[in-house]
Amino acid sequence: MVRKAVLPVAGLGTRFLPATKAVPKEMMPLVDRPAIQYIVEECVRAGLDDVLLVTGSGKGEIEDHFDRRLDLEAALADKGKQDELTAVRDLAHLAQIHSIRQGEPLGLGHAVLMAAGHVAAEESFAVLLGDDIIDPHEPFLERMLEAHDRTGRPVVALMEVPSDQVHLYGVADVEPGERDGEFLVHRLVEKPPVDEAPSNLIVVGRYVLPGAIFDVLHETPPGRGDEIQLTDALQTMAADEPIIGIRLDAERYDTGDKLGFLKATVQIAAQREDLGKEFLEWLRAWIEEREA
Ligand code: UTP
Repeated sequence: MVRKAVLPVAGLGTRFLPATKAVPKEMMPLVDRPAIQYIVEECVRAGLDDVLLVTGSGKGEIEDHFDRRLDLEAALADKGKQDELTAVRDLAHLAQIHSIRQGEPLGLGHAVLMAAGHVAAEESFAVLLGDDIIDPHEPFLERMLEAHDRTGRPVVALMEVPSDQVHLYGVADVEPGERDGEFLVHRLVEKPPVDEAPSNLIVVGRYVLPGAIFDVLHETPPGRGDEIQLTDALQTMAADEPIIGIRLDAERYDTGDKLGFLKATVQIAAQREDLGKEFLEWLRAWIEEREA
C-alpha cells in the first residue's frame, strides 16, 4: 500500500517573478492558505501521511509552515484566539513532513530522484507537483492509487485540453483502458506540434510511481532544457509495457502561472462557506458594472 508522497518544490518559479524572488511560489496564498497546504491536505485525505518535500535554497518558509511556531501559539493563547491557535497548531500535526534539498534545480526527474534515500526501491509512492491544485472535492488521487494497486504500473494524471493547446504540454498516446476514464499510455510526446499530437490528453502534476523509477531516472540523460525530465523516464517505462493514465474531469489549476493562480483564487474563494456568498455577490456586481 502506498503511504508516502513526494512533493518537488525546488523550482525557481520564473513565471511568477518578481513575487517569487523572496517567497516560494508554493507559499503564495490562495485565500488564506498557501498553495502547498492544499496539496499536503490532498495527500492526507488519500491516506498518504508521510510527505517528503524536495526543497531548494529560498524555500525554508515551506518547512516552517508545517512546523510549530511557539511564540505565535503563546501570543494567540494569551489573546484567547482559539480558532487561530488551532489552525496554526494543527498544521504541525497534519502529516509527517520530511524534507531534502535538491541542491540545484536540475529538473523534475532529478527532484524525484532525491527521494531515493527516503523511499525504498521496492516501495511505490505518489508525486504531487507543488503548484498544481485540483478541486479538493474530487477524490482523484484515491483513484490513481487504486489503479496502481490493481495494475502495479506507473499511473499518470491526464487532462483533456483543446487541440490548439497541446503544443504547450506533454501529450499521451493512449488506448482505452479497463475502466471509464482510464487509459493505457504507450508513449508520451513532449510539446508536439498540433498536427503531430497523438491525442489531446496532457499529463498533469500527479503521479503514482513504483520504486523502480529510481533506476530508470539514474539512467536518464538530461533532456529538454538540459534538465532530467520525469517524462523521459516514464517514456522509457511505457516503451516496455504501457503505463496507466487516469483522466481528471474536475477543475485543476496551475498556480505557478498567473492566470491559473487567479482562477484558483476565485474558485476557492467562491466555494468557501465563510466568504463565498459575499465574494460572489461582489464579483457579480463588479462585472455587471463594467458591462453596463
Ligand atoms: P515547473 O517547471 O512548473 O516549476 O516545475 P518552476 O521551474 O518552478 O516554474 P517556472 O516554469 O520557472 O515558472 C514543476 C514542479 O517541479 C518542481 C517545481 O517546484 C514545480 O513544483 N521542480 C522543477 C523541482 O522541484 N526541481 C526542479 O529542478 C524543477
